[in-house]
Amino acid sequence: MCGIVGYNGSSNAAEILLEGLSKLEYRGYDSAGLAVRSGTNDVVIVKAKGRLRVLAEKTNDGKALKGTLGIGHTRWATHGEPSENNAHPHVSDDRNVVGVHNGIIENYQELKEKLLRHDYTFYSNTDTEVAIKLIDYYMKKYKEGPIDSIARAMTRIKGSYALAVIFKDYPEEFYVARKDSPMVIGIAEGASFIASDVPAILKHTRNVYYIGNQQIARIGKGTVEFFDIDREPVELQMEEVTWDAEAAEKGGFEHFMIKEIHEQPKAVKDTLNAFIKDGRIDLSEAGLSDEYIASINNVTIVACGSAYHVGLAGQYVIEKLVRIPVRVDLASEFRYRDPILNADDLVIVISQSGETADSLAALRLAKERGVSTLGIVNVVGSSIAREADHVFYTLAGPEIAVATTKAYSAQLAVMYGLAVQFAKVRGQIDEETYAQLIAEMETLPKKMERVLEDKERIQWFAAKYSNAKDMFFIGRGIDYAISMEGSLKMKEISYVHSEAYAAGELKHGTISLVEDGTLVVGVCTQNSLYEKTRSNMAEVKTRGAYLMGLTSYGNYAIEDTADFTVYIPRTSEYFATTLAIIPLQLLGYYLSVARGLNVDKPRNLAKSVTVE
Ligand code: G6P
Repeated sequence: MCGIVGYNGSSNAAEILLEGLSKLEYRGYDSAGLAVRSGTNDVVIVKAKGRLRVLAEKTNDGKALKGTLGIGHTRWATHGEPSENNAHPHVSDDRNVVGVHNGIIENYQELKEKLLRHDYTFYSNTDTEVAIKLIDYYMKKYKEGPIDSIARAMTRIKGSYALAVIFKDYPEEFYVARKDSPMVIGIAEGASFIASDVPAILKHTRNVYYIGNQQIARIGKGTVEFFDIDREPVELQMEEVTWDAEAAEKGGFEHFMIKEIHEQPKAVKDTLNAFIKDGRIDLSEAGLSDEYIASINNVTIVACGSAYHVGLAGQYVIEKLVRIPVRVDLASEFRYRDPILNADDLVIVISQSGETADSLAALRLAKERGVSTLGIVNVVGSSIAREADHVFYTLAGPEIAVATTKAYSAQLAVMYGLAVQFAKVRGQIDEETYAQLIAEMETLPKKMERVLEDKERIQWFAAKYSNAKDMFFIGRGIDYAISMEGSLKMKEISYVHSEAYAAGELKHGTISLVEDGTLVVGVCTQNSLYEKTRSNMAEVKTRGAYLMGLTSYGNYAIEDTADFTVYIPRTSEYFATTLAIIPLQLLGYYLSVARGLNVDKPRNLAKSVTVE
């Protein structure tokens, strides 16, 4: 996920582009770049690694760059690590074509080989450079104009793209093309704007066109013409944006957190698609061969915060399915524990940001000890991704809310993939079970959508209990891991004191805190433990607790004990965390909203903790 912008008018382009990019930084923030030109002058390109402000400083907020036409980009790395070299814009060998891109070109390797055979050279690892050079190649081969060359390239490119392209010999205009990646074109008096998302142009105009799939547009100064992939002109209807800029950035949601909660089915689907191919799990991208998987004797999972809770859920799944010992440690503890590690161990470090100081230190320690390491990371090219021996990327896209939701769910999906594949390779499950588990995994995104449809009930419940002072989450096995994450969400954003307890342990201390009206959430997704947890719920109920039950459809007898019940669709017990966590995330969210708190930026917390 990246953000692109473009401007063609009479003001200084770079300042407008930077301002537009600042509204798109949520789409990616590992590097950024601009290309501007005035008249027939050569195109000037400036790029910078890091957040957008680095590029702004480098260009004196754009004032140092002169030109009235330009394109810009903020990057979220997919192909090639974050670096100035890989940052957009990209250029053809003779600077004939300059472009920015959002999307993924799936057949870029094949196209690259073709271009290499035609003497093109490549300076970056990006798929975008390939697309730009392919357009240049067709332009030279057929001696045609921009629309024709772009159309020819589009027929060869597989994947998704929103492209904005400047051509050396066409100084008065630039061109855009789109397939399956968003792009909006805004028109004002004497000026045109393009962007990946409406907020980036709303300051300048509310008159927009949504360019269709596989269409191309020529962007003049306040004018736009559209063409289809056969290069025939097409007419599009101009639309007026009626909503305000701030709401638009959040896609109509009130906060980033609720937007990201809703993005979870997609995050899980994209992550699963990356390793499930033709009904089988393929871990080769992370470099985990069958021989290597067969040689592992112990797994240690190290992480912080919610990523640690993914490790706890993963521990149950791996141990049950693979039958090898799994230890889960907080990174801040692991690093000072002088941990006992053996040569045939695998240390898995889970981190959304890939920059958490304790997790990074734990990774380095494991490496120093000569143990093989696997990073499960969301941010491409982050420190943990670079330093781990093997990397597995979660495809959750940039996460803005401090309290993680969609990255957590994507990390869980990776844990399932590892567990099922390890079990198969090591002969713990047969072909039929393997196929069933994979098929079940693939149903999760749809089932997650069903859970989200039920959100109003949680909202109502949260509003009713917005004055809660203490809250307890109880469960056994995987349900205990779910409880820990549910409890963390609650305290992080709602500031309600909450604790997660192993349901059977409650009577050894915590139960003394239960009094009339204390809120207790009982998580019961595991069939074999259902009755046990239910009796623990009954124990707190007799002491006055108000009980929320969380279980699968069909377990209706829970209503004899719980005062309020939330049901999730049935799934394999191994994967229940993915569904059960959603109501708990929603509970934390709606309680925070009901209490009028800063949901996306809770007090005292940071998204990425790069200090000890
Ligand atoms: C912070 C965030 C948490 C996150 C934790 C670990 O505390 O607020 O949401 O789980 O860091 O972050 P990481 O980037 O390593 O997953």
